[in-house]
Amino acid sequence: MAGATETGIVDPLDEIADVCIEHGVHFHVDAAWGGPVLLSEKYAPRLKGIERADSVTIDGHKQFFMPMTCGMVFFRDPRIMDHIAYYSNYVNRRGSVDLGIKTLEGSREANSLILDSALKIMGTKGYALMIDHGIETAQEFAQEIRKRELFDLVTAPELNILTYRVVPADIRKRLAVADSQERMQLNGLLDEINIAVQRKQRETGRSFVSRTRVNEVPGNPGDNDVVVLRAVIMNPMTTMDVLKDVLDEQERIYASIAPGGFLREGSRKGLQL
Ligand SMILES: Cc1ncc(COP(=O)(O)O)c(C=O)c1O
Repeated sequence: MAGATETGIVDPLDEIADVCIEHGVHFHVDAAWGGPVLLSEKYAPRLKGIERADSVTIDGHKQFFMPMTCGMVFFRDPRIMDHIAYYSNYVNRRGSVDLGIKTLEGSREANSLILDSALKIMGTKGYALMIDHGIETAQEFAQEIRKRELFDLVTAPELNILTYRVVPADIRKRLAVADSQERMQLNGLLDEINIAVQRKQRETGRSFVSRTRVNEVPGNPGDNDVVVLRAVIMNPMTTMDVLKDVLDEQERIYASIAPGGFLREGSRKGLQL
């Protein structure tokens, strides 16, 4: 994957290419999210190894800002597409040069024209500006999260996606010395806190940060499947002021729901917080 859905992390593509070549395996890169990063001179090297792929998917309806759906797949050897060729006597006859012969979908909208127009209007440099803004703003946002006591950065942004979670000071202290059984309990409590903060922020309606689960917290291997807040910096109008506002609101929400609620819940689970 070149830009994983949950975290934006890019797999070590060069190493995977080596393994594929060694074993004669088709090397496909899912760049549905990260593909347009190739337009940025500055950040294209983060996708190093993608040029060795046998096939690559890129979605227009993600970082090319297209309406749904505008998915693309590129093959190094176009003959591979013969595997998905279909024929019919009334239109796609054998030997015809009709491009529609090679398709998974049959009839579809001409969304590729919208992407073609956007590329002409924006230019690759225009898209690169937006890509650079997303990656650089995500880096600054990560710095801001690191600075604030209430939050832990869980996955740093390789592209423009990062994840973090609310970790109150008392729980952080306990986590530092907890055995694996207690870590599980504390992580369960943190999951509840993060779900509550995320829900409340969504319901309040001023801003919204998505939520997901990640399998491993860096520095704490074994912390499986924990709830994290997931921020995707894509809108070119998003500034650090906007992002600080989002964190300020999460701090206020935590302060409003913490007294009693989570601590009681924690002690019900046998934790002395
Ligand atoms: C890396 C990646 N691959 C594939 C998909 C699926 O995309 P779609 O079905 O919209 O083409 C997504 C969607 O979030 C994605 O982020």
